[in-house]
Amino acid sequence: MTDLNREICLCFHVSQRKIVNFIRIEKPRRAAQLSECFGAGTGCGWCRPFLRKIFEQAVANGDTELKLPSDEEYSRLRSRYVREGGGTPPPNASPIDDE
Ligand code: FES
Repeated sequence: MTDLNREICLCFHVSQRKIVNFIRIEKPRRAAQLSECFGAGTGCGWCRPFLRKIFEQAVANGDTELKLPSDEEYSRLRSRYVREGGGTPPPNASPIDDE
């Protein structure tokens, strides 16, 4: 069962619930439009593949369940992505884990 309170975008603290509601109400036509949902995906960029996945599933069959790594793993992988030069989180983003 998906935990809708989980933050998908750790840079702008956008929960899965916010994304799901945005898709339901605003009916975006492209995954990139999810950035209009509190800036999701416009920080370091780490969460963009996950946003795209929710969008594609929702368009294909209305499915907004998303299998994510555990909180710790999700955060750890994002930290590695940022450290490797993937992108720069904004000032109020969730911090990058220590190595
Ligand atoms: S986690 Fe979403 S842009 Fe960084």
